[in-house]
Amino acid sequence: MTKEYVMAIDQGTTSTRVILYDKNGNTVGMVKKELPQIFQEPGWVEHDANQIWIDTEWLMQQVLTKYDIPAQEIDSIGITNQRETTVLWDRETGEPVAPAIVWQSKQSNIMADKLKENHLEEKIYDKTGLWIDSYFSATKIMWLLDQNSELKQLMDEDRLRFGTIDSWLLWKLTRGKAHATDYTNASRTMLFNIHTLQWDPELLDLYGINPNLLPKVKNSSDDFGETILKGVPIKIGALAGDQQAALFGHQAFKPGSIKSTYGTGAFIVMNTGDQPKVSKHGLLTTIAYGLNGKITYALEGSIFVAGSAVQWLEEGMDIIDNSAMSAEYAYQSSQSVPYQDIYLVPAFTGLGAPYWDQKIRGAAFGLTRATRNQDLVRATIESLAYQTKDVLDVMTVDTGLTRTHLSIDGGAAANEYLHEFMADLLQIKITRPRKLEMTARGIAYLAGLQSGFWSSIDQLPDNPEMLTVDYNEEHKQTMQKHYENWQKSVKAAQKFAYHR
Ligand code: G3P
Repeated sequence: MTKEYVMAIDQGTTSTRVILYDKNGNTVGMVKKELPQIFQEPGWVEHDANQIWIDTEWLMQQVLTKYDIPAQEIDSIGITNQRETTVLWDRETGEPVAPAIVWQSKQSNIMADKLKENHLEEKIYDKTGLWIDSYFSATKIMWLLDQNSELKQLMDEDRLRFGTIDSWLLWKLTRGKAHATDYTNASRTMLFNIHTLQWDPELLDLYGINPNLLPKVKNSSDDFGETILKGVPIKIGALAGDQQAALFGHQAFKPGSIKSTYGTGAFIVMNTGDQPKVSKHGLLTTIAYGLNGKITYALEGSIFVAGSAVQWLEEGMDIIDNSAMSAEYAYQSSQSVPYQDIYLVPAFTGLGAPYWDQKIRGAAFGLTRATRNQDLVRATIESLAYQTKDVLDVMTVDTGLTRTHLSIDGGAAANEYLHEFMADLLQIKITRPRKLEMTARGIAYLAGLQSGFWSSIDQLPDNPEMLTVDYNEEHKQTMQKHYENWQKSVKAAQKFAYHR
């Protein structure tokens, strides 16, 4: 039987998806399952790693059954994942030994504070490209080891294993044969030296983490072993963090090309070529992909809350019934009050780039007796655009590159109001593909390049058609005023931030 499809596993923060692509880049099958979020304490976010595995295994079978595709027709598999989320498991039992600590989770703030008190910011940034924060895996591992002495014992007995979600799924898919990750995921742990391309012995020592916990680091497109699906062995040809996979999906191969993905958070990533680019303004220096033994670097602005703010409106506040209603409400608000002065700072899990404030919490400003649900929804959507401007402005300063358009993707990128507002605020064109799943597409490309399904990046299918929203120059001044108010709102929320 000929190999017709590449299977992309996209394990995100709020859901797991499995998507099949044919050689022309068409999506021929897609299945999805929501992932429960566990909130044990305010500011904490955890997942059940076993649930993630069970869902993934089920979805891989489900997509074949639903679209009546024999497993023999699957050429290869790629795994892309929510990054930084930390899983520890016992290599003898193959069972997780703690909840997966999600990237957004704040329980390891105390560990990050200790590193800062020891003035390690510059050293850690120089080695890893990351600014100390509980966002990254290192402090999560430290916190887990600190909380439970049995884990420390397992580590000393060489039974404990660490992985981000890619490594965890790879371990399960290969029945414990492969303990590996790729450069992109490794570069998000705060344990990996992005210059020497090794786990950093000095940092491991500082953190008290034994190197035997860690996976082998490979190219994003590589031989990661094989899994058995419906009795058929299939190669796993790619691993990559979801934001880097989305960059690859956009085919942003040239230095200077950039994309912004609006999932749970929003992540603006720029390809900077074969040299790491230093940021003086709170962006991360990270690895975009490892391909054919060559590393491509990126600059990233990580925004912690984007789509999850819309989810909060729906599930937390009960203001909207579904995410599509957020655009409807935002338009209703803008029709009755063309320029409102309500600002919502969605710092539910701290603020990432360029602020890196792990203590700040969410706040709303400018509420009046006339404020309605619609206005609050609108302020929430607008906060996604303001945060994007925060990042793009410093990216322009760090790189000296100005741009005429921004390509966006991800679930929240479907919101038309967001496009228009963002175009006006940034005073550039906003483009987005008709199909918003650039993350899964990117990992499919990486897996297909490994197997020869596509022989080189020049042979990849053309990108899906792009839709463009233009900006209105007449709105420039008003938008500038709004942006200044947003900045004031962030400052005020930072001042209020309480200490636990
Ligand atoms: O760094 C966290 C990021 O990888 C999460 O992505 O798509 O689940 O918001 P997403």
